[in-house]
Amino acid sequence: MSPKPIIEIRELTKIYKGADEPAVNSISLDIFPNEIFGLLGPNGAGKTTTISILCGLFPATKGSVVIDGIDSHVNLEQIKQIIGVVPQDIALYPTLTGRENLTFFGNMYGLYGSELNNKINHYLGEFGLEKHAGKMVGKYSGGMKRRVNLIAGLLHDPKILFLDEPTVGIDVQSRVVILEYLKEINKKGVTIIYTSHHMEEAESLCTRVAIIDRGKIIALGQPKELLARNPEFSNLENIFIHLTGKGMRD
Ligand SMILES: Nc1ncnc2c1ncn2[C@@H]1O[C@H](COP(=O)(O)OP(=O)(O)OP(=O)(O)O)[C@@H](O)[C@H]1O
Ligand SMILES: [Mg+2]
Repeated sequence: MSPKPIIEIRELTKIYKGADEPAVNSISLDIFPNEIFGLLGPNGAGKTTTISILCGLFPATKGSVVIDGIDSHVNLEQIKQIIGVVPQDIALYPTLTGRENLTFFGNMYGLYGSELNNKINHYLGEFGLEKHAGKMVGKYSGGMKRRVNLIAGLLHDPKILFLDEPTVGIDVQSRVVILEYLKEINKKGVTIIYTSHHMEEAESLCTRVAIIDRGKIIALGQPKELLARNPEFSNLENIFIHLTGKGMRD
């Protein structure tokens, strides 16, 4: 693993207006180039808040984020050019077709004309969507929407890709297509940070994971390190339950 992190997070804290507790509570973390890093935690743990701050969607209350050597307080716009964002809530226009949605997102990243069209065609093919490109996204299945949502974050060839629960609510086929593609772009050098509730998936996909709960990191390491540290548990899911408890969260 390279000694120079591609993402340096220091004492990151987010207190939403009117909240009693911080949603993210002084998280410090280094992520290294070419990792597939999993941010795992129960509902309300602070995963989306953390990833949203890293992507520059809203500011932290305290702390700092340096991405690829660029301090987000100094040049957030430069960071935005090298990152791709795939949000938890599908951010597509239901009355536009798949192709129109992707054209819109491509334009937002400054891509136009045949360069953009070629990319869109490439990704529609890659994700088995070419037949559906002319249909309104509102009529797509959940898996198709997730795939378009992912393509929208990939069009500008980001160096770092953030995905917030990219495989939630989809069938095995769409899940496999998405995960295989993430592995493929990771092999080509893209650093991936993703959140999930799916422990088995994270265990097989991630180079390292952080388990967060109530805004704090409570475990960090390679899945196999966490298993070695907790020999009484046979998989990541059991460690996760052990650390976060069985109580339901909202
Ligand atoms: N815009 C907001 N205003 C106030 N509180 C918020 C806001 N967004 C999230 N929260 C609160 O912050 C905490 C962390 O939420 P967050 O969405 O980051 O969790 P999460 O780990 O992504 O959960 P999930 O698994 O349900 O997606 C929760 O207590 C949540 O209710
Ligand atoms: Mg979330």
